Formats: sequence, C-alpha cells, structure tokens
Amino acid sequence: MIDDTRHTFIATAAFGLEGLCKRELMRLGFEDAKAELGGVRFSASLTEAFRACLWLSCADRVLLVMAEGECRTFEELFQLVRNAPFSETLPRDAAIPVSGRCARSRLMSVRDCQAITKKAIVEHMRSAFHTASLPETGPRYQVDVALHGDVARVTVDLCGDALNRRGYRTWNGEAPLRETAAAALVTLSGWHGDTPLHDPCCGTGTLLIEAAYRAARRAPGLTRAFDIEKWPYADARALREIRKDAEEQFDPGLIPAISGSDISEDALTLARRHIRQAGLEGRINVFRKDLRDLQLREENVCFLTNPPYGERLGDRKQCEALYRQMKPLLARHPGSRLCVITSHPGFERVAGLRAQKKTRLYNGRLECNFMRF
Ligand SMILES: C[S@@+](CC[C@H](N)C(=O)[O-])C[C@H]1O[C@@H](n2cnc3c(N)ncnc32)[C@H](O)[C@@H]1O
Repeated sequence: MIDDTRHTFIATAAFGLEGLCKRELMRLGFEDAKAELGGVRFSASLTEAFRACLWLSCADRVLLVMAEGECRTFEELFQLVRNAPFSETLPRDAAIPVSGRCARSRLMSVRDCQAITKKAIVEHMRSAFHTASLPETGPRYQVDVALHGDVARVTVDLCGDALNRRGYRTWNGEAPLRETAAAALVTLSGWHGDTPLHDPCCGTGTLLIEAAYRAARRAPGLTRAFDIEKWPYADARALREIRKDAEEQFDPGLIPAISGSDISEDALTLARRHIRQAGLEGRINVFRKDLRDLQLREENVCFLTNPPYGERLGDRKQCEALYRQMKPLLARHPGSRLCVITSHPGFERVAGLRAQKKTRLYNGRLECNFMRF
C-alpha cells in the first residue's frame, strides 16, 4: 500500500542534543523540523519517517503523534484517544502495548492513564473494524501516553528498540558512552573525516565506531530492524528502497586513519569485538597504551575522548593525574587538537588548557562539559 499521508512525528533526543537532532533532520530534508524540550517535531509520510529512523545518529526514538490535547480528567483523556485515527494506522490484529509517563499533571496515576488509553484504543478499533475481538497477534505498535502538566501526548513508536541500539554493542565495559551521545560528540568535535582521529581512552570503542560510521556515510540503523518495517500500512517496497539506497551510500573506503588506545586489556577485548560486530574490522586499529606514553606517527590528529571522570571518591586524584597528561599529549603531536567530555568541573584548571568551545550536555544522568581545545 502506498502511504503519502502527512503525519506529525517527534524524534526524541537527550537533553542538550535537540539542536543537533534538528540539524540532522534538516539535512535529511525535513525542512519544518522544530526543536522542543526533549525532541524535535517534524512532518512527513510514514515512508519518509523511516528514513529518519535509519539515518538519525543522535536521536533516541521516532514517534508518530496520534493525539495531543489538554486532559484534566480521565474522561477527557478517554475521548482524546478514542477520537484519534488509530484504525487508519493500525491493522485489526495490531499488538498494542501501552507505556505511560506523568509529570506535574492532574492525572497522576501512570497506571490509570495507561489503562484508560488502552481502553479507548480498543473501543476505537472495535468500532472502526466492526468487531468485538481484537486478537493482538499481529505486528507491534508501542503506544506511549505522556502527560506534561495537563497536556497529554499519545504516540506510536516506529523504532522498537531505541535508536542507540545499532546492533554492534553486546557487552558494556566500564562507563560506556551511549552510541547516540558518541555520535553527537563526533558532530560537536567538528571533525569531518579528513584528518586522523584517535581516542586515547577508547574503552569499548563507541566513539571510534561512530566516527567511522560518519566518515563512511553509514546509516546508523543500517543493519538493525525497525517496528515500522512490519507494519502493513507502510509502503514495504518504498522502505526497502530507502534501505537499499543507504546500503549503496556506505563506503568504508572513505574512513581515514581511526585508532584507539586504552590502558585496560579487558576494555580493548570488548572494543575489538564491537568493531568486528560493527562491520569495521581492519578499518579501526586499537592497542594497549597508557595515555602518558602514547606517541602516534600521525600529525594533525583529532583526539576525541571520554576519559574517566573520577566521580567516586578516591578515583579523583588518579583521574586528575591523567588530565595533567593531556597537554603533553597535544605537545607531542603537532597540529593536533583535543576534544574531551567530562563531568569534572575543574578539567581546564587541572589540565592547564583553556577550551575554545564548551557545550553542556548529559552523559546519562551526569551533567558534563564537552570541550574543544
Ligand atoms: C569512561 S571509560 C571510556 C568509555 C568509552 N568511551 C566507551 O564507550 O566504552 C574511560 C576509559 O579510560 C581508560 N583509562 C583510564 N586510565 C587510562 C590511562 N592512563 N591511559 C589510557 N586509558 C586509560 C579506562 O580503562 C577506561 O576504559
């Protein structure tokens, strides 16, 4: 079935990444993309929205907005959902799990909001399909009801697994960076794939893989599945075309010298595994080295790193000793620059460096600074 009806979507993004996500959407051709708290709103057909799922690197999910409106009572919520066009998007056998969230709203019980939403969808579907039974044996349509203040937003998730699940990370090392955050740091670093890139505290290799994907024009979601691909009302042939186009754009030959080092052999074992699972074996070199002894052959290196933050008491001294090694590292590599994310508020003082540019963002729950030197 061809579907060119326009819908409203929200690409959700971590706090601080909404602007980057908006720019990504604009580059993908979604010209009306508008950033709001926690995401970016844009309009598209279902088919076009699949392109966003496949290509967005720093968004968490792509949600189809089914209904939005003020709801002060459960009856208002029920009517809002009951009147939303679910039967135009969901088939009769759709499996419809419902999740929920409430923040500063009169309707405080998340469970009740979920139950009312589900009841209203079921009633809508029964009436639209003239049936008493909805088997829910078909494809998944994950519905979410979110109340912020007294405004309810009811959405259906196109993705399934969150977008950070690219498919290459199966083991988490110590404090790994989310794939979406790593992709955001690659963008913020200003690196364009035209100089060598090295992560001297590479851990499980997330920054390296995301940088290589960017350089190789590899869609982040290329090898994973999305819920929308199983939806009967989406245009399956058009979705396959979009995948095929993304496969053709992927060119590993574009990847410049990308390498990483770490003091921990365990972390490197994971990094090698992830690099292999990301389809980048032979394209990224990782090796064991203490940052203080690191000497690369290349010049004009972009050092991009997520070092330890010393969050736990007792770790701080060790981590500051590492920060003091960053300036000598730069001095040993003429023409190079350094990009660091850390929650340590005194990084510049300890490292004896002054950032040219600083961006505040979150790594999980930790408020961090991303700094370019
Ligand atoms: C926060 S983790 C990096 C996580 C990584 N970005 C990822 O996604 O997996 C910090 C890393 O710094 C490494 N490290 C600590 N001290 C180091 C040193 N002196 N030289 C090199 N690496 C070091 C740790 O082994 C750890 O893997």
